[in-house]
Formats: sequence, structure tokens, C-alpha cells
Amino acid sequence: MRCDLIFRDVTIIDGTGAARVVGDVGVSGERIAGVGDLGAWSGDREIIATGKVLAPGFIDAHTHDDRAVLCGPSCMTCKMSQGVTTVVVGNCGISLSPVRMTQRPVPPLDLLGDEQWWTFDSFAAYAERLTTDPSPVNTVALIGHMSLRVEAMEGDVRRAATDGEAHRMQTRLREALQQGASGFSTGLYYPPSQDAPTDEVIAVAEALRGTGGLYVTHMRDEGDGVLQSIEETLGIGRAVGVPVVISHHKCTMPQNFGRSAETLALIEAASASQKVDFDVYPYVAGSTVLMPDKLRPNVPVKITWSIPHPELQGKWLADIAAGWGVEQGEAAKRLLPAGAIYFQMDEADVRRIMAHPLSMIGSDGLPHDAFPHPRLWGAFPRVLGHYARDLGLFSLETAVHKMTGRVADVFGLADRGVVRTGAYADLVLFDPLTVRDAADFDNPTLPAEGIEETWVAGQSAYVYGAGATAARAGRVIRRGTHG
Ligand code: ZN
Ligand code: CU
Repeated sequence: MRCDLIFRDVTIIDGTGAARVVGDVGVSGERIAGVGDLGAWSGDREIIATGKVLAPGFIDAHTHDDRAVLCGPSCMTCKMSQGVTTVVVGNCGISLSPVRMTQRPVPPLDLLGDEQWWTFDSFAAYAERLTTDPSPVNTVALIGHMSLRVEAMEGDVRRAATDGEAHRMQTRLREALQQGASGFSTGLYYPPSQDAPTDEVIAVAEALRGTGGLYVTHMRDEGDGVLQSIEETLGIGRAVGVPVVISHHKCTMPQNFGRSAETLALIEAASASQKVDFDVYPYVAGSTVLMPDKLRPNVPVKITWSIPHPELQGKWLADIAAGWGVEQGEAAKRLLPAGAIYFQMDEADVRRIMAHPLSMIGSDGLPHDAFPHPRLWGAFPRVLGHYARDLGLFSLETAVHKMTGRVADVFGLADRGVVRTGAYADLVLFDPLTVRDAADFDNPTLPAEGIEETWVAGQSAYVYGAGATAARAGRVIRRGTHG
């Protein structure tokens, strides 16, 4: 048997959570052609990978890569250098379709860019662009409530939607699901969605019923009201009869440190009677747009970008305020529009949430930030290196499962997230002894160490030291299809 690529004597961690095995893996075209002892096979390219791990390419369960997947291989180096081969876009209520913008969108929609990027008035148009001008990675897409809301309410969003407006959103969502979107996301925490009552969300989410699509949410409150927000999320899932995913699960603000014991117990109890999962990133700081009224004295803030003051990206807000001789709130207003990193979580909560069996790893990276949170370049190797290997929080097999097979199961991605004959050859080869995140809060855009090569559908997409290749083998993945 002759195939395109063979890994020999490689440690296979297959993504299902099963224990590693040493063997050979053959790739033919875009699929895995064989796993086991392939001594009788030969390959156009043979990699003797003794001591290295071959895993399914990582599936980033939570991204804001809606625009990054449109702009060629270099835009996705941040992810491919971590071993990521599939990204879930459209999170937190923010999706680049189906809405056009004629002026700079309100925060946080502007995380994806100014009006020139908002040109897709249907999900079909967005998916079409990804087909004619493919990304190097695969895309799974959610449709954002905030995008739908700003359009249906013509920007007048500081109120509940009327029945007519909610119906318009539901219709737009239904169309997008028919065109291949995988679910519906909300960002009820953010001002453009804050005034949406639960009933409005249920009315729009009604479009999910019977489609297999997911309800994914950046909840209304991840701080003092986190338990009520989880109840709201679970209630929406039950009302429409769909699986829910809680985005970047966390307990924010020092007074809530330790409460993941309560939140996880609540989620776990609910999981006995409804489908619920969550994603998490491996850091004690979050990042989003800068919101002056969300500042708290005991939460340090670092600036990731600022339109009026680009020279201050990467600086602490406290230092900027001191330099200007003003309060932090005033300094924040002067920086707008801007982005920020908020150091607002507890390490013990991060570990407890990540270690929970219902967790998936999602970077939540913000690819257009000038001085981004390091999760954009480091989330996956940080879980593999720092948390699994160095701290022993869980086995490497479990770490890989939380970034591959589990995510494929939750999002319904057929033949992805697993090393098995017949599955897509989305693969990553890494050194388990050296894999680590190099990006940190001072140098946030450094590629991971120890991730040697990443393949998408059998094509080499990233090589350590050389960067992204010219391959563009990514496609739009629809739930349950092989697309
Ligand atoms: Zn979010
Ligand atoms: Cu997000």
C-alpha cells in the first residue's frame, strides 16, 4: 500500500480519551488511511516520529475568528502554531453574518473590525466566500444574537425587542441554520444585548428547535449573579429543547472566588436531564472591549488596543491614569474605542473548571487586537504543557480529548477530532516533553514551543520555524455532515 504521508513509531493520542499507543499512521488524500503497524506500507513522505505525539488537530471551541478565517494563511498562524485545525466562530453573540454595517458597529461587535468587514447579509454569502477563498483551517459557525439584534432593531438596542423584531431575528437565524450555520450564540453581558429579556432569547432561539443546532452563551452575569445566569441558560435550552454550551465558564470578581464549586455542581446536576457543556480558557484574566463602567478597584486592567491612543496598547490602565493625573474611569473613557484584559479570576477556579469532565478548551482569542491576550497564541500548548504535564491537572490524553473528540461530539462534527482510519487527516505532531506556550502578558504573540507541524485534511498547514504554508484546505463544517 502506498500513501501520501506516513508517521512511523509515533505515540498516538487518538482524541477519544483512550490511553496512548505507539504505532504508525498513514494518510492518503484528505483522510487517514491506516493506523497500526504499517510496516508493509510506503509513503511519499515518511516521518520517523519516535517520542513525538500525533493527535487530532485541535478544535478551538470558542473563537472570534469570523474575519481572521477570511484573510489567508498568515492570519491563522496564531492558531495553527498551537495545533488548531478547526475554529468555532460567531461566539458571544458576535457574528460577521448575516448583517451588513454602514458605520463602525457598536462595541463589542467592533472586535471583528470596522464597517468595511461587515459585508455579508446572509450566512450563505459568508460560507460562499470561505468556499471560493478558503481558510487554512476549518470553520464551524454560530450566528450571533447581537448581530441579529442590531440589524432587526436598527441600532435601537437599549430595550427589549418587539415581537416583530424578535420574529425577524428568528427568521434570519432560521435561514442561516438552513444555510449551514451550527447554532445560535448570545452575549447577554454586553450593553447591546443586556436589555434582551429571557423571553426574547427564547423567541429567537425557537429557530433552533429540531435542527440539532446549539445554544451557546456568554452569560448575562459571570460574577455575583452567576448561578442565576446558569439557571437562565439552562431554562433557555429546556424551553427550546436544544443543547447548551456555556462560554468561557468562570467566576469573576474576588468576592466570587471559589464559587466554581457551586456552579459546577449546578451544571452537573442539570446535565442528568439536559445536554449542557462549557468551554474554558487556561488563564486568570479575560479580555474584551474596554468598558469604563465595568472597572473595579481590585481588578487590574491592561489595554490591548485603543483607536485614539494606539501608543498605549500593552500598558496598564492604572499607569495611564496616573500619567494623565486622572481617575481610571476617566482614563478609560479617553481611550475608547478600546480593548482590555481584566485580571478577574482565581487560579483555583480556573483549574477546577478546566479539570471538570464537561469542559472543552476554547481560546476566546481576539485576533485583531494590537496587543492581544496571550490566549490567542498560547491557550492549547498552555493546557498541554503547563496544566497537564507540569502541574498534572489531568493526563495528556484527557487534555487532548478536551480539545478534540469532546468538542467534535458537542458540535456534531463527523469524522473530526479523532485519529482513526477514515477520519479526516486533521493532525498535529508535538513533543510532549517540550510543548509549552511562549506567549505571555508581556510578549503575547509568540508561537508555541514543541508544536512541530499541523495538517489540515492531509495538507501541511504549519511548520514550526517556517510558519504557515500556502495550503488552504479548510472548509465550512456543518453539523453532522462530512462537508
Ligand atoms: Zn464572551
Ligand atoms: Cu468570546
